[in-house]
Amino acid sequence: MPRILGICGSPRGKSGTEYALRKALKEVEKTGVETELITLRAKEMGFCIHCDKCIREESRKCLVHDDDMTLMYDPFYYADGYIIACPVYKMSVTGQLSVFFDRLRPIWNMLKKDRAFFYNKIGGAIAVGGSRNGGQETTIERIQNFYNSLGVTIVNLGTPAFGGASLWSHSGSYEGLLTDESGLEDAKRVGERVARMVLTIAPV
Ligand SMILES: Cc1cc2nc3c(=O)[nH]c(=O)nc-3n(C[C@H](O)[C@H](O)[C@H](O)COP(=O)(O)O)c2cc1C
Repeated sequence: MPRILGICGSPRGKSGTEYALRKALKEVEKTGVETELITLRAKEMGFCIHCDKCIREESRKCLVHDDDMTLMYDPFYYADGYIIACPVYKMSVTGQLSVFFDRLRPIWNMLKKDRAFFYNKIGGAIAVGGSRNGGQETTIERIQNFYNSLGVTIVNLGTPAFGGASLWSHSGSYEGLLTDESGLEDAKRVGERVARMVLTIAPV
């Protein structure tokens, strides 16, 4: 059975972003596709220092940091689809998510062997901002650019949500996020869209 990996970039315990992601993953499960959720909250992850040891030694994992990232490589490599959800920080993703992206540097070794490794994997994006127009779209774009760097096939939402689900937490509170009904509907649509595309093109 295909599996979709949800990644939450929020560092907070009571996170509206994680709530929206869980809504999306619930929609995935309705299609029979399996889900897994990784939160970056409280994870120890050192910066990629571009030493390229992983590249030279053709490793699938970082060879200098033995930290929480080590266990996140395989769930990422072998998922059939992704839903990356992140709060907006300075109109982009959180530092945690940015470090996660960079630490996937060993992916280069996989792409050298098979540049199509991610072509049949599907990616969707969810962004939660404290302001109504606080950079949700640029955050979604950041996530989609990450997908582009790997060759992941992106699903959008079309009109009127465009690139992905943009949610508004009304100044950052969990309770405020719960009032964004249309944003939460869009998050659910991201889940359904990613799952339907996975079922259409991912090898079973
Ligand atoms: C360092 C920092 C930067 C932020 N930058 C933005 C921003 O650029 N635009 C915005 O709308 N909200 C911004 N926020 C607010 C968060 O996106 C908002 O509180 C969000 O709902 C947090 O989601 P979470 O509770 O799931 O972590 C920022 C918050 C922090 C801590």
